[in-house]
Amino acid sequence: MNTFGKRLKLSTAIFALSVGAVQAADVEVLHWWTSGGEAAALNVLKQDLESQDIGWQDMPVAGGGGEQAMTVLRARVTAGDAPTAVQMLGFDILDWGNQGALANLNDVAAQEGWDAVVPDALKAFAKVDGKWVSAPVNVHSTNWVWANKSVLDANGIAVPKTWDEFVAAVEKLNAAGVTPIAHGGQAWQDATVFDAVAMSTGGPEFYKAAFIDLDEEALGSDTMKEAFDRMSFIRANVDDNFSGRDWNLATAMVINGEAGFQMMGDWAKGEFLNAGKVPGEDFLCFRFPDTANQVTFNADQFAMFDQGGVVSAEQAALASAILSPSFQSAFNVVKGSVPARTDVSDEAFDACGKAGMKDLAAAAASNNLFGSMAHGHANPASVKNAIYDVVTAHFNGEYDSATAVEELVDAVSIAQ
Ligand code: BGC
Repeated sequence: MNTFGKRLKLSTAIFALSVGAVQAADVEVLHWWTSGGEAAALNVLKQDLESQDIGWQDMPVAGGGGEQAMTVLRARVTAGDAPTAVQMLGFDILDWGNQGALANLNDVAAQEGWDAVVPDALKAFAKVDGKWVSAPVNVHSTNWVWANKSVLDANGIAVPKTWDEFVAAVEKLNAAGVTPIAHGGQAWQDATVFDAVAMSTGGPEFYKAAFIDLDEEALGSDTMKEAFDRMSFIRANVDDNFSGRDWNLATAMVINGEAGFQMMGDWAKGEFLNAGKVPGEDFLCFRFPDTANQVTFNADQFAMFDQGGVVSAEQAALASAILSPSFQSAFNVVKGSVPARTDVSDEAFDACGKAGMKDLAAAAASNNLFGSMAHGHANPASVKNAIYDVVTAHFNGEYDSATAVEELVDAVSIAQ
């Protein structure tokens, strides 16, 4: 839509508001929720808005982690045609907020008391200079493993709690001719696994020093080399066709019993549920070995683009719908994530969701909650992409572990 069209749309919404007959226009939403489970969750939001007579203009851009969506967004903003609302992660929100591109949602936030119910870890990415610029939808976390229960049972494998137990389980599956690890060779997926592997190898202080503080010593340490060695072990235990595979197709391999494990954020649960699978019966969810007390999180938020100085009626309605407790429960039950509000009951959630909510609260209380490097919550996109490049090059055999460590130190230093 051109600028004139947008102004017209905006003035229609304002006119409708001023005469008291709210006939809000459509919301145009740019997002990357294109898998079966993600689409099912998105439908919960679409229906919520439909029930308020707000139409939905869908702008899906496939690609887990949202890199492609962010590229499309930049093109749209450059062309003066920003969408109403955009799914966004961590540092990207701060980046657009600092550029002054996002609408100020403080009125809605104050009316609905967001400050009291949204935890600080999310506020740190939802507010810029004291202004709410995005509406938090959920909290995901990346240090999860998903397993096919019958495959584990058939091979006498108990849930591995430590890296050594995980290695033993993988070797058992290998011996039985089952693909141990389902993985999709895409940079963001390699990095998602690396989040958990780094935490598991070096513990929370190491994770924080390396990915959040970008401390050169941690980045260049023997611990980092060991983390890369563990990535090589994982690489040696994926199937031959892993390269380029979408994450949800890797999840399908676990769902169908073609593979034992997938290391992936809890959006993977949405795929199991969408396939009619039941946690504890058909599939298992557990924390990546040796990371039971930590949570590496990322939160999807809808950033609202400034449409001319005022928050439009449809933006306010969308933000309000997203933060409503009933939506937070209904959406996150389907999505695999947990609520972005601390006051939502876990009653409607399955065992994995209940565990996710408990883990999140415990990790926050014990200072073991850390932003996910892979999903834009540890450092800005330039640094994140530099880390992606090294992790992927190593995963694909371009560097040995010692070289990867050197490259990582250099790449992070150049990207800052
Ligand atoms: C998002 C999730 C999404 C996943 C895969 C993550 O970055 O936070 O909502 O399901 O990417 O597309």
